[in-house]
Amino acid sequence: MALQFSPQADAKISDICRRYPNTQAACLPVLHLAQDEFGYLSEDVLELVAARLAVPSSHVFGVATFYTMFHREPVGKKVLMMCTNVSCMLTGAYETLRKLEQRLGIKAGQTSADGEFTLIEEECLAACADGPAMICGDRYFLRVTADKVDATLDECRKLPAQHGHHPHSDKKH
Ligand code: FES
Repeated sequence: MALQFSPQADAKISDICRRYPNTQAACLPVLHLAQDEFGYLSEDVLELVAARLAVPSSHVFGVATFYTMFHREPVGKKVLMMCTNVSCMLTGAYETLRKLEQRLGIKAGQTSADGEFTLIEEECLAACADGPAMICGDRYFLRVTADKVDATLDECRKLPAQHGHHPHSDKKH
């Protein structure tokens, strides 16, 4: 069966289209929604978004590749975005990142072997006063110095997976 949005996601897209001046502007929120829905933005997903919004695929591909928050490859159940921009760097973000890499057994940009976490080195997360800052899903973790990595990962493990609906994980009844 061809890839398609769930009825709930489709209704949300209609709602987004009503609120944005044109479908090109709606592209950003719809890509967010598509990522929530499918986990990452494969070529098929980008084509689906382009078709749904009736905008050129090139526009959708351009937007998806411009923003680091969009994943073009499969990601783990949770994505850790670790800021290493200036303010966070000055409070030890690189030490934190190295410790995260060590604990998860991966490098930034990779996914842990158990599929639980994808670690991404990110630009400013707008929490500069409380760095080093990290986001897991929609939750902020602040002042995450290297010594807090273990406790922070424990917290993150308790959070729900970030993308619920996935066409390949649907159970057939
Ligand atoms: S520099 Fe890290 S949140 Fe702004």
